[in-house]
Amino acid sequence: MSVLVITGTGTDVGKTVVVAALAALAAADGRRVAVLKPAQTGIAPGEPGDLAEVTRLAGNVTTKELRRYPDPLAPATAARRAGQPTVHPSEAAAAASALNETHDLVLVEGAGGLLVRFDDEGTTIADTAWALNAPVLVVAHASLGTLNTTALTAEALLRRGLESVGVVIGRWPADPDLAARCNLQDLPEVAGAPLLGVLPDGAAALARPDFLDLARSSLSPWFGGTFDPEKFAAPHAC
Ligand SMILES: Nc1ncnc2c1ncn2[C@@H]1O[C@H](COP(=O)(O)OP(=O)(O)OP(=O)(O)O)[C@@H](O)[C@H]1O
Ligand SMILES: [Mg+2]
Repeated sequence: MSVLVITGTGTDVGKTVVVAALAALAAADGRRVAVLKPAQTGIAPGEPGDLAEVTRLAGNVTTKELRRYPDPLAPATAARRAGQPTVHPSEAAAAASALNETHDLVLVEGAGGLLVRFDDEGTTIADTAWALNAPVLVVAHASLGTLNTTALTAEALLRRGLESVGVVIGRWPADPDLAARCNLQDLPEVAGAPLLGVLPDGAAALARPDFLDLARSSLSPWFGGTFDPEKFAAPHAC
C-alpha cells in the first residue's frame, strides 16, 4: 500500500485526526509521508485547514491542497458559489501519483463522506480512489447511527469496485454508552472489513510526542501500531 484514500461516514467524524495518526506513525518508522487534500472547504485563504492540523499533530510530512473554498459546503456547491474551478478526479489522482513518486506513503483525505460531490458532473472521492486503484479507509463515529452510515458507505464502495481496508473510529468517548460498546462488535460486520483502530476523544488536543504514542496504541499493526480490536473490546462488554 502506498496510496490510501481516507473517507468517512460523514463530516466531522475525525478523518483529519486519523490521517494525522497514520502520518505520524509512518513518519516515525522512517517513511516519507505525503498528505493530499484535494478540496478544503469552510476555510478562508491564509487560515489553517486540515493540512495544518496534520502538520501540527504529525510533524514532518509533505502536505498538498489543490483547492480551497471559503463556504463550509460540499466542494461542488462551494466552488459554484465562489465562482472557482472544481477539482476533477483525474487532477487529484495525478497529484497523488506525483507525490507517490517521491514518498513511501500518500494519504488522500476526502471532504465529508464518500459521495460528497466535487463538481457538477457528480464526481466524488470514490472516483479519485478508482483512478488511483487505491484502497479506501473508512472513518466512522462511535455512537448510535454509525452502523447505518458505515453499512451505506461499505455498500457504495463495493458497488464501485473499491477495496475497503477497514474502519477506524475517529473519536471514542471517555464514557462509552451501550450503543458505542455494542458498535465495537457490529461495526466490522456491517463494514465487511476489520476494525483497524479507535482514536480516543481528546487525541487532537495532544502535543506531538503524546499524539505519536497514542497513534501507536490506537492503530492496527497494519499501520505499524499495536491496536488489538479484541483486547480493546474486552472491557467494553455489550
Ligand atoms: N479523537 C479526537 N479527539 C479530539 N478532537 C477530535 C478527535 N477527532 C476529531 N476531533 C475534532 O473534531 C473536529 C472534526 O474532526 P476532523 O476535522 O478530524 O473531522 P473530518 O472528518 O476530517 O471533517 P471534514 O469532513 O471537515 O474534513 C475537529 O475540531 C477535531 O479537532
Ligand atoms: Mg478533515
